[in-house]
Amino acid sequence: MAVARIAVVAGDGIGPEVVGQARKVLDAVLPGVEATEYDLGAARYHRTGEVLPDSVLAELAEHDAILLGAVGDPTVPPGVLERGLLLKLRFDFDQYVNLRPSRLWPGTTGPLASVKPNEIDLVVVREGTEGLYAGAGGALHRDTPAEVATEESLNTRHGVERVIRDAFARAGRRERRKVTLVHKTNVLTHAGSLWARAFAAVAAEHPDIETEYQHVDAAAMFLVTQPQRYDVVVTDNLFGDILTDIAAAVTGGIGLAASGSINPERAYPSMFEPVHGSAPDIAGQGVADPAAAVLSTALLLDHLGHPDAARRVTEAVAAELSSRGAGSPRRTADIGDRLAAHAAS
Ligand code: NAD
Ligand code: IPM
Ligand code: MN
Repeated sequence: MAVARIAVVAGDGIGPEVVGQARKVLDAVLPGVEATEYDLGAARYHRTGEVLPDSVLAELAEHDAILLGAVGDPTVPPGVLERGLLLKLRFDFDQYVNLRPSRLWPGTTGPLASVKPNEIDLVVVREGTEGLYAGAGGALHRDTPAEVATEESLNTRHGVERVIRDAFARAGRRERRKVTLVHKTNVLTHAGSLWARAFAAVAAEHPDIETEYQHVDAAAMFLVTQPQRYDVVVTDNLFGDILTDIAAAVTGGIGLAASGSINPERAYPSMFEPVHGSAPDIAGQGVADPAAAVLSTALLLDHLGHPDAARRVTEAVAAELSSRGAGSPRRTADIGDRLAAHAAS
């Protein structure tokens, strides 16, 4: 029997480039892993009109985890692949913890002169199945002067409380033991109140964990001016999407940012994917940084109960980053072999 059955969805643009490198590392640290590639994304859509057939969804459900590169392509209308493939997987597999760690690795140059390596070590726990991503809303009178479009944010007590609980549990396993709730309670009074009350209720069960609240606009500022202040940040789906690109930018760039779309109960496979997208501007040039995909593989290994393998992968990436030096060219052509050799040793 395979050690683990992984479904690989390389996807579009730089997805296949970065996932190709990540797979080399996965094979090196987890001998016996069974990886099956699924052809999903823009090419399949153009060829067959399919985005995610039910039969493929059912096959994906049989895997221990999914490794995903990126989806989205300029030749496909916006949302078709993003909603039909990526978000469908997150929603159907109830991946409500969208875990996005950010660390300023030694050897990495962030844009902030005041921050030294290792001083940023935060994790955003982004809600993954609700909020403005739920798809509620509608449009009327399209292409007329009376056109109206609404987009509603769905927030359930169940959905909000479970992700907040996950954030507190994570904080309890970390050194600083601090959780920051980020929302916009001063304006989004319905959802904001729900989030604030759920946060207060869970906080009351964890008197040993420090808590704070910030409005999202202030958090966007502090992530740039004082990213060191954060430990665990819990927030809704859209705020988390935006804040994690900022967190990536201050820790060396989007090419390093890993994520996991996790179903903690393991009722469904969790999915591990870089924070970045398909980067059509650099696709096919061999210059995309695969570090985010490789670090996402480390999160996958951790989730599947292989912490030693995960640590070896993370250490290999850290060693690679510290040897790169500032301004070194980003290469995908051979990095997977180098990381695989390092991680296997
Ligand atoms: P993007 O993350 O693809 O690119 C933003 C910028 O970052 C680009 O300049 C790109 O070249 C650069 N970049 C991204 N990844 C990089 C890497 N590994 N190494 C070096 N540079 C990298 O975001 P976008 O341009 O807003 O979106 C492009 C497409 O990707 C859209 O179709 C979007 O919907 C989709 N998207 C998908 C995901 C996903 O699959 N998880 C995430 C974000 C965006
Ligand atoms: C991400 C992406 C996705 C999101 C899109 C492509 C649906 O931006 O993974 O951050 O908004 O969650
Ligand atoms: Mn995003």
